[in-house]
Amino acid sequence: MRHAIRATLLLVVGHVGLATAAESSVSGTSIENAFRGAIQDRSSKTADEALFVEKCSMCHRQMGMGTVSLARRVPSERAMLEKRTDLTVDFVKVIARRGLTNMPRISRIEVDDAQLDRIARYLAKGNSP
Ligand code: HEC
Repeated sequence: MRHAIRATLLLVVGHVGLATAAESSVSGTSIENAFRGAIQDRSSKTADEALFVEKCSMCHRQMGMGTVSLARRVPSERAMLEKRTDLTVDFVKVIARRGLTNMPRISRIEVDDAQLDRIARYLAKGNSP
């Protein structure tokens, strides 16, 4: 009986070992996702940040389509808009109203002018215009 339990334990341990090895192997047809294992942080400390989270963060925080897309053009540590220091109020507004490649234009129904102004100022961190 004791032998049987030990054999079962060894089997279980063996399987866990195999599974871990298989999951961490990288094949020629897969690449490691930069945000692997990340969950999206939806927290905010100010009302303007909360508005950004509500209207933009599904694409512009961790794992968002915008973040992943921008990581191809800007250094990946700055792919999230909130990590950028080069954004201006006007630039953010123009992109939001016109759209850019995979980013759809954001209408005044979704985000009105006053709300977009607050989001743009939050992202521009004091940069003008
Ligand atoms: C449906 C997803 C989606 C939503 C929602 C979205 N974006 Fe984007 N955004 C993108 C994608 C994708 C790109 C990158 C396009 C590219 O690769 O050129 C982008 C790019 C941008 C850029 C350009 C950055 C640069 O350096 O070129 C700005 C600014 C921007 N978004 C602002 C916003 C703001 C502000 C909001 C919310 C009001 C918002 N986006 C909502 C998907 C989205």
